[in-house]
Parts: sequence; structure tokens; C-alpha cells
Amino acid sequence: MTDRSDPLTRLRALQAGDLPVHGGRTLAYVFDSGLPEVDRLAREAVAAYAASNALDPTAFPSLLTMENDLVGFACNLVDAPEGAVGTVTSGGTESVLLAVQAARDSRPDIDRPSMVLPATAHAAFHKAAHYFGVRSVVVPVGPDFRADAAAMEQALDETTVLAVASAPSYAHGVVDPVGEIAAAAHARGIRCHVDACIGGWVLPYAARLGRAIPPWSFAVEGVTSISLDTHKYAYAPKGTSILLHRTAELRRPQFFASADWPGYTMLNSTMQSTRSGGPVAGTWAVVQHLGDEGYLRLAREVFEAVDAVVATVAAQPGISLVVAPDSTLVALETDDTCDPFTVTDEMLARGWYVQPQLSFAGRGPSIHLSVSAATLAHAEELRTTLGEAVAAARAAGPVRVDPEVVAFIDALDPAALSGDDFDGLLAASGLVGTSEDGALALPARMAEVNAMLDVASPAMREALLIAFLDRLQRPVRPHAPGREA
Ligand SMILES: Cc1ncc(COP(=O)(O)O)c(C=O)c1O
Repeated sequence: MTDRSDPLTRLRALQAGDLPVHGGRTLAYVFDSGLPEVDRLAREAVAAYAASNALDPTAFPSLLTMENDLVGFACNLVDAPEGAVGTVTSGGTESVLLAVQAARDSRPDIDRPSMVLPATAHAAFHKAAHYFGVRSVVVPVGPDFRADAAAMEQALDETTVLAVASAPSYAHGVVDPVGEIAAAAHARGIRCHVDACIGGWVLPYAARLGRAIPPWSFAVEGVTSISLDTHKYAYAPKGTSILLHRTAELRRPQFFASADWPGYTMLNSTMQSTRSGGPVAGTWAVVQHLGDEGYLRLAREVFEAVDAVVATVAAQPGISLVVAPDSTLVALETDDTCDPFTVTDEMLARGWYVQPQLSFAGRGPSIHLSVSAATLAHAEELRTTLGEAVAAARAAGPVRVDPEVVAFIDALDPAALSGDDFDGLLAASGLVGTSEDGALALPARMAEVNAMLDVASPAMREALLIAFLDRLQRPVRPHAPGREA
């Protein structure tokens, strides 16, 4: 029987099962200013523009005005020279995709274009490589988790259309040596993109607060484009990022027009064509409200929270920093008395979401924290909760995967597995069970699942998780008259 009660009541009930987006205790996926008026403003602006379409700036000129305001604000943040231009996109991944696509299409003379990435570059670059047929040349990072500029320089060749640096990298929160990477690219006439999706809105304020931030902006010669996400440290509602180019000429290949059909001439600066005005209006309202002073204040708070986390970790046996953070992202590792996956489960059981990161390139698993300004008010609670979570994880001891299971997984070729094989593997991993009513059941604790994924190769992890997503995304069809239930 279809539930016909108030959809908003049902929405709220559904949402109660999600991670909280407010409260400063969800330390990945969401960014919380801790200011209720910012959220109220964003909600109203999103609602007012939810049906407006940014596809056509002549039909919705107010959205063009807002986008130009946002790009102008971003230009000032990142030392963009006169003549710099930008585009509001739907998020960091779209900004990265467009930077790669524009770089590829700026060099039609290159048959098999490539890009040179530090191993710590965000996975969005691998997605871009996959979508646009650009070969990724992945260069291992140095022992400090920063890009190895000399090795990246060595990797540049006549097929390279783009060199990439992060400010900071997601997994470790450190800023790459942008100056050296950009100089090497510039010397060869190659574009250099700085992925400041995370840092773009917060590192400029960190520098103003007197923190030591290595140069990464357009002030660095040779940086040709920068991505910075408003839906992260601009504390705007989800659905916006900004891609800046040093010149209009560099942006030009990003644009797409098609008059080759009988309808309106399609004219786009982004991957999307119809684009909701909601996120643009919500972001504009938040940026107007907070302004430079507001962001400086929030940066002071978020870095105070980061410093509190660093001090907490320094005093906590069993856990340590992977590397000292340059920005607002903190990566933690455990010693051999416990494991990161049990710690993340124990944190969640106490109302805090921190994100597990699997082993990579010879380094063990870790725990990611995206610290928000709102976290500062709970810094003391975070200290006690982390202490309790680590103590519980140490009492339980490190989660182990049966060596026979490790050998079994090692022997599998993900490319050769059938749908049935994946069903069996997903059930065996505990990632997907079946509840009494036949629906998929997700595990409440993830440590064993993560530990199993951790021993699998990246290719096997990808295959398993794609199979998992495939099984999650199945339609729930309402009963239709005339169709057998
Ligand atoms: C450095 C970096 N680049 C790109 C992205 C992708 O952004 P989004 O999730 O908004 O697509 C992220 C997301 O965390 C990021 O940290």
C-alpha cells in the first residue's frame, strides 16, 4: 500500500537515517560553518531558484550576475591576474573534468594526449582520463606525501597536455610544490592545473592568519587553471565549484556549442546543459552574507579546531598523524595495537563520522578528517571521543583477515568474475546481506568489510564496489493498476 502521508514528514524520517550535516561531528562529505543563519539563508535561496535554469544566461540573467560575482570573489582569493575568467560548475569533479577536457582540446595536434599526476591527485583526474581518453602518467609522491616535482618534470613529454598539483591533497592534507611543478610545465608550454577544491577558499585566509602556506595560487607563474569548491570551505549548499583560467583563451576549448540539430543552439560552459539555479543562488547568498570578514573568522575557527585535533592526537597513545597538515584535512594512522577501521566504527558508534582510507602504494590504512569551523565548539568532546574510540579499538585488537581469504582474493581476476561470483563475494565480505524481507541489508559495523577490501588490489576493490553499487541502485516500483504486485 502506497504511503500517502505528508511527503515532507516522510522525507524527514528518511533523512534521520543519514549522517548529520550540521553539528560539526561529520568529518567528511559535509562542511559546517556552525552558523544557523547561513543554513537558513542558503535554504531559502536554493528554494527560490530551484526551478530556474542556468542553461540560458539571456533567459535568466540574474544567474549570470550571481556567477560573475562568485567568479570575481574567487579571482581575488587566488591572486588571479587581470583577464582571468572562470565558470561555476556543479562540484569539484566537474571542475577537474573540465580542466582536463579543456587541456586535451587545446592540443588537437597531439594524437594520444597524456597528463602527469602525483599519485595523491584526486580520483576525479582518473575519471577525467577515463571519460576523455587522456592517458594518466602517475608519479609516486615523496616520503612527505607531497608531489615529487623532479620526477614529475622527468615524466613530462611531447604528449603531455596537463600537469597537476593539489593544494592540498585529499588523502594527506598537504600542499604540493606548485612552484616547481608549474615552472617545469611552463618551460615546455604545458598547462598546469592546481586542484584547490579543498584549499581554495581556506588557504588564502590561513596565509592571512599568519600560517605558513607554500605558494600555490596564480601568483605562481605557470599555473594556468585552479579549481576551488564553494560547496566545501565556502560553506555553501551542495552543488557548486569554480574553475578559473588565467586567460579567456585558456578557457575557450572548455565551451561547447551545437547548432547541428533543429532545436535551440546548445551553448554550454559546463558538462551539464540544463542547470538548476538553486545551488548558484544558494552559494551566492552565502558568499554575500559571509564576505571576506566572515570567511576570515571561519578560517580562524577551523584552524583552531585543526590545532586542537593535532594536540589531541599528539597526546593519544595508539594513534598519530600521518603527516603534519598544511590545511584543514587531517590524516591519522594507528600503531599495531589497533586498526583505523575499528577506530572509525567506534567513533561512529559515539556520534562522530571519520572516514576510513584504504592502504595505498605500500602505506597502511588511515583515517581522514575534514575539519569544519563548527568542529571547534566540540573540540573537547572530540578529544574524549577519540580517546574512548582508540581505547575500545585497542581492547578489541587489530581486525584480522583470515590468511586463506587473503590468498583467495589474491587469486581472483576481477575482469573474469561473473555476476554470481560477485553476489557470492559481496555476501562473503559482509558488504551486502539480505534482510528478512529480502531487501539488501548494509552492515552496521564496517571494520571487517574494510579490512577485507584493504587486502584486495585496487582493481579488485573497484570491481567489488561497482558490483555493490549496482545492487544498491535497484528500482522500487510503486504498484500500478493493472500490474501484478
Ligand atoms: C582535492 C579534491 N579535488 C576534487 C574533489 C572532488 O570534489 P567533488 O566531490 O565536489 O566532486 C575533492 C573532493 O573531496 C577534493 O578533495
